[in-house]
Amino acid sequence: MNHILHVVGARPNFVKAAPVLRVIRERGIRQTLVHTGQHYDRNMSDVFFTQLEIPEPDVNLEVGSGSHALQTAEIMRRFEAVILERKPDLVLVYGDVNSTVAAALVCSKLLIRVGHVEAGLRSFDRTMPEEINRIVTDQLSDILFTPSQDGDANLLREGMPREQIHFVGNVMIDSLIRLLPVAKSCARNGLPERFALVTLHRPSNVDDAERLREILECLTNVSEKLNIIFPVHPRTRQRIVEFGMNTDRLLLFDPMPYIEFLSLQSCAAVVITDSGGIQEETTYLGVPCLTMRTNTERPITVTAGTNILIGDDRKRLIAEVRNILDGNAKKGVTPPLWDGHTGERIADILQQM
Ligand code: UD1
Repeated sequence: MNHILHVVGARPNFVKAAPVLRVIRERGIRQTLVHTGQHYDRNMSDVFFTQLEIPEPDVNLEVGSGSHALQTAEIMRRFEAVILERKPDLVLVYGDVNSTVAAALVCSKLLIRVGHVEAGLRSFDRTMPEEINRIVTDQLSDILFTPSQDGDANLLREGMPREQIHFVGNVMIDSLIRLLPVAKSCARNGLPERFALVTLHRPSNVDDAERLREILECLTNVSEKLNIIFPVHPRTRQRIVEFGMNTDRLLLFDPMPYIEFLSLQSCAAVVITDSGGIQEETTYLGVPCLTMRTNTERPITVTAGTNILIGDDRKRLIAEVRNILDGNAKKGVTPPLWDGHTGERIADILQQM
């Protein structure tokens, strides 16, 4: 393996690619970094590159926002030219965003090998755009790096050959373990001692006015007992404004840098979220997590970790918050191979090829 090309595009990709980029650089293998530009705001992109010490991308495709079809197609159109020019031996794609599937599609047509980091996760809910991205990316990939063994089982069931599947652990946790000491020493001036940390950005929760109103009312109810710190994703901010929602009792912030957000997660009384990665980070941190979804592609965070699926039931959210405040939070254990060495295991496998 002489030349590896990495593709990143959205915030969670940066956290996953950073440890792999670091190890591959240390081992002296040639690598190229392509940023698709799916996320482009300073606090959704640049700040992550700085804090995670990711090198400047060699190429930025600057695709920006658009409908799923437009965004995916534009990434494919621009990425194809990069592949033809740079001719890598292998392309690594991360997670389940539009950039992931677009890059995998381009490579498979050009007969360039693809490795998928965070393969095999399934929510079994095809109304989620990420589920489509996961299924297609895995089918097109030559090497599948899974974060948990449920991923191996899903891939085998879908007919992927055993020898292409490698259980390597959770690479997001590599970044977390490296930066947790810095996060813990981070000052939190002016923020409440005890709080719930909230994030919401899934289309199913924020694009429907009724659903968003119900969730915000529920959070307002929780705020009677616990301060709510809510860093707001750009998509959610747009909807709150568009629908004229009331957020008076919630402490709204712009999206936060990685270290500041990790600092808040590590000392939150509870995290309320619809993100995928945050379900995993809270499980590692042992912080209670209430997930505002009916399903998860990360079931190990429920079976082993601190995660509880709340679904659409607002009474359940309030009851679970009360439970946590009464000292009866669910206890969890760290899943196997969430140990900070996943990047090294991925590099070992690539070097053996
Ligand atoms: C994407 C991923 C999602 C991931 C999330 C993390 C897909 C299908 N979804 O969702 O899996 O959990 O990133 O954040 O790839 N916007 C900005 N500035 C930016 C980026 C986006 O203002 O830097 C706004 C745009 O108006 C855009 C909207 O947010 O239309 C949504 O962005 P997009 O990248 O399409 O999807 P996300 O909701 O961020």
